[in-house]
Amino acid sequence: MKQRQYLVCAPQYFDVIYSINPWMSSQEPVDRGLAQKQWKALVSVFDDLGHRVHRVLPAADLPDMVFSANAAMVLDGKVLGASFHHPERQPEAAHYRTWFEYAGFDVQASAWTSEGEGDFVWVAGKLLAGTGFRTQPQAHREAAEFFGKPTVSLTLVDPRFYHLDTALFALDDNNVAYYPGAFSASSQKALADLFPEAIIATREDAMSFGLNSVSDGRHVVIADRATGLIHAITDRGYIPIPIDMSELRKAGGGAKCCTLEIRP
Ligand code: ARG
Repeated sequence: MKQRQYLVCAPQYFDVIYSINPWMSSQEPVDRGLAQKQWKALVSVFDDLGHRVHRVLPAADLPDMVFSANAAMVLDGKVLGASFHHPERQPEAAHYRTWFEYAGFDVQASAWTSEGEGDFVWVAGKLLAGTGFRTQPQAHREAAEFFGKPTVSLTLVDPRFYHLDTALFALDDNNVAYYPGAFSASSQKALADLFPEAIIATREDAMSFGLNSVSDGRHVVIADRATGLIHAITDRGYIPIPIDMSELRKAGGGAKCCTLEIRP
């Protein structure tokens, strides 16, 4: 198992004060203390697994900045910086850009709406690219050119699963788990052809953010409520590490949303 590098952002200023996805309109208030604890537990898991965790400083007026996955797609040391769909999140891009530049990376800012690893998944030598709610299809072509990788566009159709990383994750270098109902009929067909061995998740497990998981190829950090999926991945030989991200879920996020993988 290779060591991974992850970029995270502490939820110091995390809150739900606007609504840009269906999860954010539930009236349930966020327990910010609990959110901090849950996030720290996530980072401890990465530390304990021996992965390298980088931190970007949170900004006071950006309550969604904790969702670092949306800030960029990083592959072969190349950074395609996000261009956020919603004005509420657009200022995050500059903060992340500064971090990457300081860390020695060149950043290309996307010319199209593009939300980083929220809508890009690197697996099987391909870039899977989501569209429908956030990232524009033009950004898929841009990413294909920028990274020089075969890119497969997938269309999301259910607003609960507005980012690709809420409906699909890479189990390892070759296989994925996903919830077919989040995708258009032709995208379901494309996924079935590409990944005949995929683990198929139920709507219930997807609604528990079970597909918003972080796998290092062996260990899978996964929402503890996604019990069916936890069993399914265990049966296939992966080691689940269940965690509770109840507070982040109120903003429409889970473990993966809080984790941006840096592939140097
Ligand atoms: N409130 C954030 C938004 O709607 C949540 C982002 C979750 N991130 C993710 N990678 N799915 O933009």
